[in-house]
Amino acid sequence: MGDTAEWSWYSLVLCSIGSITVVYYMLRWSWQCWHGFKVYVLSEIWQTDLRTYGQWAGKVFFKEWLAKRGLDIVLISRSDDKLRSVAKEIESRYKRQTHLIQTDFTEGHSIYSAITQQLEGLEIGILVNNVGMNYIGVLANFLDVPDPDQRITQVINCNTLSVTQVRLSVWLVFALRGKGLIINISSEAASQPQPMLSVYSATKIFVTYFSRCLHAEYRSKGITVQCVVPFIVSTNMTHNIPVNPLVKSAASFARDALNTVGYTTYTSGCLTHALQHYALSIFFPGWLRLSSFCVQRMATFARSTELQLKERMAETKNK
Ligand SMILES: NC(=O)c1ccc[n+]([C@@H]2O[C@H](COP(=O)([O-])OP(=O)(O)OC[C@H]3O[C@@H](n4cnc5c(N)ncnc54)[C@H](OP(=O)(O)O)[C@@H]3O)[C@@H](O)[C@H]2O)c1
Repeated sequence: MGDTAEWSWYSLVLCSIGSITVVYYMLRWSWQCWHGFKVYVLSEIWQTDLRTYGQWAGKVFFKEWLAKRGLDIVLISRSDDKLRSVAKEIESRYKRQTHLIQTDFTEGHSIYSAITQQLEGLEIGILVNNVGMNYIGVLANFLDVPDPDQRITQVINCNTLSVTQVRLSVWLVFALRGKGLIINISSEAASQPQPMLSVYSATKIFVTYFSRCLHAEYRSKGITVQCVVPFIVSTNMTHNIPVNPLVKSAASFARDALNTVGYTTYTSGCLTHALQHYALSIFFPGWLRLSSFCVQRMATFARSTELQLKERMAETKNK
């Protein structure tokens, strides 16, 4: 009799724990589905009016969609020719103004006072911090980076210093007006530690944490800091890999990512990248990425990709 009472007490406790767990996961998944629907589907229909942040926005990558949505653009990059041709396109196609700043973010602290001076007087409303680089064209072990001292400093300056320094000049404008939007581009390579992209992965998690902390600190003052964490986008960085259902074109990614403004401050940027993020976190978790087995496979993959890229470059040269 005593045994039976004890068992029914145990089963009641186990059933309660089981039910609470099921309800918790159902609520969590329902909330995630609703959040995903809101961020990636509803955002297509009801877009935030970006002009409410201010008239000027900078920099490249998102340029086309920012201009299309009625903003004037400050373009910042290294190549004067590229800046001029992009500016010409924005001015003729979208009838928006442009302001060009030629600079190299790998150079460190010295460039920022000149940028601040050139931004003076512009009613900056949105800053898209898009600049980023890897230390080598493909995956590589840390010690295999050619000219490591210089290259690694360049990557750190370009990926992390730029995020904190450009901020200072734009920050003052935002603080004075009590409104502003900063979009920082991190990477899926920061969602988990990513061997063979070690410095890149580490600089991008810096961008993610920095953005999320800033948002928490300044949202009450009207300043939104959004962190975008893309998967693979077809650009120069990814050797213009062909677009497919998993790989987005830069224009299409920028369009989707801008739609998420006002809906979330931490996003994969588009639905397909969000789904890939969830799939990877389930089927390719951190412990597996860091295992010797995976690192060896990635090294083999890197070697074959490097060979393919060299062949492709030789073919393009011969044409
Ligand atoms: N492509 C992807 O699959 C992917 C995935 C995840 C995250 N991301 C992130 O998305 C952002 C954009 O990457 P992307 O793929 O568009 O790369 P990209 O093709 O190499 O272009 C990067 C942009 O930054 C400028 N830039 C590069 N180095 C610079 C420097 N030292 N100084 C000044 N400007 C510089 C480039 O213009 P100039 O060449 O004219 O200077 C270009 O406009 C990066 O932060 C990257 O980490 C990309």
